[in-house]
Amino acid sequence: MKPFYRGRRLRKNAAIRSLMQEVRLTPQDFIQPIFVVEGEGVKQEISSLPGQYHYSVDMLDDIAQRMQQSGILGCILFGIPDHKDSCASEAAKEDGVVQQAIRRLRSLSPDLYIIADVCMCEYTSHGHCGILNGKGEVLNDETLPHLAEIAVSYAEAGVDMVAPSDMMDGHTAAIRSALDAAGYEQVALMGYSAKYASAYYGPFREAAHSAPSFGDRKSYQMNPANRTEALLEMQADVDEGADVLMVKPALAYLDILCECANQFRLPIAAYNVSGEYAMLKMAVQQGLMAESVIPETLLAIKRAGASFIITYFALEAAENIKQGAWEQWA
Ligand code: PBG
Ligand code: ZN
Repeated sequence: MKPFYRGRRLRKNAAIRSLMQEVRLTPQDFIQPIFVVEGEGVKQEISSLPGQYHYSVDMLDDIAQRMQQSGILGCILFGIPDHKDSCASEAAKEDGVVQQAIRRLRSLSPDLYIIADVCMCEYTSHGHCGILNGKGEVLNDETLPHLAEIAVSYAEAGVDMVAPSDMMDGHTAAIRSALDAAGYEQVALMGYSAKYASAYYGPFREAAHSAPSFGDRKSYQMNPANRTEALLEMQADVDEGADVLMVKPALAYLDILCECANQFRLPIAAYNVSGEYAMLKMAVQQGLMAESVIPETLLAIKRAGASFIITYFALEAAENIKQGAWEQWA
């Protein structure tokens, strides 16, 4: 018989499996999303995202400490204001929820890397990511100055990185030049470069009260059927001055992530979105799958080429890694 490939030799025991392991999880791989609401004394679990909370600014101590202790280096903030209007005017206020949260987190954890999502949908009465015309269409160029104003306002509050998620054309250029003009050339920009129109955002929209009140986001977010279009969007973000590119969602788009990581020299983030989290969390809670489906999934995103992963599993993963419970994946 001809010699044949014996892959099992290198899977014989835990030691050789670990020696051969190509990708590992570390707390530094993860960015924790945080939802900030108005009011005081609020730490309320989000029903669509078990284990995730709405925090008022005064209650952020808790999560700041957890991030520090578990080795999570960064977070991304989402603001949920009480008052919404047609042009998201709360979003750029000096004492808006996100601006306050940035200052509070900065004072609690000076070394924490603070990212802020820049979009209008949490702040608009109609729930769309931009300004509407009379026919209910989202206007591109009219939206850009609003986004730029929001980003500059986060920069004034001390944010490290802004991440525009609105999918308007030219937003990266508009925000970059506004930041530079205001003296914030050191504030980084992460593009939600390839952001698909996805049903996986369902639990987030529930959590952020940001579902569109009519229609959908298909005129600005990408068609899930498209691959080459992701390359165009990524290239546009490169050309317009993004520092980091992103693919969102992660799991149904690992092919896009892998290809973009190969094609582009900028770091690529993956956003493991709310629906992906809720799906696994609930399956594990109901005993349908072993908990190890979580590290398995995070490894897959890293293996596909993510430089880092924005995930609601961040704290849980980092704590498990720190405690040695995920030894096999870390
Ligand atoms: C705002 C925004 C959304 C997400 C991140 N920023 C929702 C959307 O586009 O409707 C989704 C994140 C998630 O599902 O975890 N534009
Ligand atoms: Zn939006």
